Amino acid sequence: MTIHIGAAEGEIAPTVLMPGDPYRARWAAERFLDAPRLVNETRGMLGFTGTWRGEPVTIHGSGMGMPSLSIYANELIRDYGAKTLIRIGSCGAMQTQVALRDLVLAMTASSLSTPSRGTFRELSFAPCADWPLLRAAAAAAEARGATHHVGGIYSSDVFYDERPDLNEILTRHGTLAVEMEAAELYNVAARLGARALAVLTVSDHLRTGEHLPSDERERGFAEMVEIALEAAFA
Ligand code: HPA
Repeated sequence: MTIHIGAAEGEIAPTVLMPGDPYRARWAAERFLDAPRLVNETRGMLGFTGTWRGEPVTIHGSGMGMPSLSIYANELIRDYGAKTLIRIGSCGAMQTQVALRDLVLAMTASSLSTPSRGTFRELSFAPCADWPLLRAAAAAAEARGATHHVGGIYSSDVFYDERPDLNEILTRHGTLAVEMEAAELYNVAARLGARALAVLTVSDHLRTGEHLPSDERERGFAEMVEIALEAAFA
């Protein structure tokens, strides 16, 4: 048990999938894991552990934004020994060639700031995905014919962004999409010796203003869970 996670020692698997939404953690655990059981509900942040193809897996919410994700990632790795953490979530596309429903696999994540700013200070650390995980996720996406893009994303501190100039600069520099968690997941994993990846589905488009209806968000979410699991155990 840690400050924010009520699971007993041994109740968190070495492989953890992290959706932002705790209810999505429950949905994914019930749909994809065998014998899922609730191992955390502290502050309403749900975590479930079960097995997938005989392998132990935990699906644990991260909450929204990097400060929330940072707390869970730190405790999952440091206190429970998690070795592989894969964020599964939605993102907003920043490029015209990236369409609604496409997958984005985040090779790296730019940010204005992360909770690790205090650690890195003047250093502009480049947070990056674990290569074997990234390669395996791309192969899994390709095998199922899912349109996917591999490249840099932007981990923003705000959803309601008042800085269109930043989006314009990032778009001009080829950034594929915006979300709010990946950069700090990569920072914490690097610091604590774990592997990390963010697998994202495009739920809205900054260039066109389109967004997915809620039933389709669910379908995209199922595909991400499958790709994340296949990548974790490739
Ligand atoms: N901004 C930030 N995070 C997001 C977005 C967005 O437009 N879409 C999905 N996650």
